[in-house]
Amino acid sequence: MDLTALMEWRNLERHFLEMKDVHIKELFGNDPKRAEKFSMEALGLYVDISKNRITEETKRLLIGLARAMGLEQAIDDMFSGKKINETEGRAVLHTALRNRSHRPVYVDGKDVMPEVDKALKKMADFSAAVRLGEWKGFGGKKIKNIINIGIGGSDLGPAFVCEALKYYSSRNLDICFVSNIDPTHITETLMDKSPEETLFVIASKTFTTQETMTNARTAKEWVLGHFRENKAVASHFVAVSTNEKAVREFGIDPKNMFIFWDWVGGRYSLTSSIGLPIMIAVGQDNFSGLLEGFFKMDCHFHDTPLEKNIPVLLGLIGIWYNNFFRAQSHAILPYDQYLRRFPAYLQQADMESNGKSVNKDGKRVTCQTGPVIWGEAGTNGQHAFYQLIHQGTKLIPADFIGFAKSLNPRGDHHQKLLSNLFAQTEALAFGKSENELKNEGEEERLIPYKSFTGNRPTTTIMAEKLTPVILGELISLYEHKIFTQGVIWNIYSFDQWGVQLGKVLAGLILPELFCEDDKLKHDSSTNSLIEYYKKNK
Ligand code: F6P
Repeated sequence: MDLTALMEWRNLERHFLEMKDVHIKELFGNDPKRAEKFSMEALGLYVDISKNRITEETKRLLIGLARAMGLEQAIDDMFSGKKINETEGRAVLHTALRNRSHRPVYVDGKDVMPEVDKALKKMADFSAAVRLGEWKGFGGKKIKNIINIGIGGSDLGPAFVCEALKYYSSRNLDICFVSNIDPTHITETLMDKSPEETLFVIASKTFTTQETMTNARTAKEWVLGHFRENKAVASHFVAVSTNEKAVREFGIDPKNMFIFWDWVGGRYSLTSSIGLPIMIAVGQDNFSGLLEGFFKMDCHFHDTPLEKNIPVLLGLIGIWYNNFFRAQSHAILPYDQYLRRFPAYLQQADMESNGKSVNKDGKRVTCQTGPVIWGEAGTNGQHAFYQLIHQGTKLIPADFIGFAKSLNPRGDHHQKLLSNLFAQTEALAFGKSENELKNEGEEERLIPYKSFTGNRPTTTIMAEKLTPVILGELISLYEHKIFTQGVIWNIYSFDQWGVQLGKVLAGLILPELFCEDDKLKHDSSTNSLIEYYKKNK
């Protein structure tokens, strides 16, 4: 199916020609009720899409495209456990992990909910034991440090959420994350810690990932170097994985293993056992709150007509800019320090899912797919890259995320933070014309530099305050936004073959770095880099 040949696509192309020079200022000028019409309130979220370059007609045409691409059926297929990850032959059921209704969900004819509940119970028992100081190190001391060793989806989700929910977390435990194979990462993390008080969570879906297994072996040497008894491993290591055999071979007793399943994609796994560090940090109740939030947004996505469906609408607005305005990137700008790592988390979620150029028919796509995702917490970004968003030559649609209440109120900090958020979206949309500057008596020669074209689109998402429930809703919102876009681009969003080639080549190069023989068979650049290393190591 060629998406760009669809009548719905061509209608959007025509509509784009009518819209491309329309200013957001005009859209607001023509309709005093625009904010009301283009904002939604649901599940404790207020989502304002009015500062986008869209009209009712744009929405209608985009929804037409979504229907033509079978989005409603695709949503049903995902939730019902169809093997929609066809290139890996797997169902995609992260939604079952937070299915608070406990309605059966079938994979290959088997209801997976009892196993999901059992895994959650095991996590809850273990987390409680660690939090209460009942889980002791081999030397009999309480655990003070939890170090999660994992990478990609086995790192970014728990690392992001542990920071996002830090306000709700136990301050008696230090939760750290080691992901990079660079020895500096684990060295610096272990530096100030005692093996007696440290518990490692080795998190890897496959339990074969080079970075994770190398760091895990180093951690094991560190622990055994201290205790000098193999039995110590049982008190200081647990595993989160789908691969029991490899966990056993590493030396971790399967009774200290927390399972998940191949129908949970790595980047969609934080509500599985991969969330163990989160549950240890914030406790079972807060973790349940997080699941509750995910579930609420899952239900909203599944049950709400496309016209009022928040993840669908945000996904479609993304398509509008990506494919018609040819925007190359999308900024995530959380005005909350706790959400500092949301952009990094969403980079994997979005770019590993939709960074594809072959469609479901095995053909090259005929349009742009996933954008570059980037961002930074407000207000730091304002003093770094906002210049380019305001006055640069590129169109960068941005999502602003903020909360009415601060979790740490202090003087007028929060009011200042929010005034910046609101002001940025206003400045980006409305800009400042040369005439306005003239009327203010600005020096003629500076007018071109000081004027702002505006018409730079933003979406703002607000909630009363950052809670586990709201965080779950936000993450699930973005997961489903990504899904929506993948369906429209007709690509497989749940595989990641693009990470393979580099891994294979690194495997071939590794022995060459150790061997003295200098007959390298790469291209001249790669050969020179390897030779440079050998001369200077
Ligand atoms: O980067 C590729 C990838 O496969 C991710 O999709 C995944 O989250 C990460 O590696 C880690 O994989 P694992 O959990 O199997 O160690």
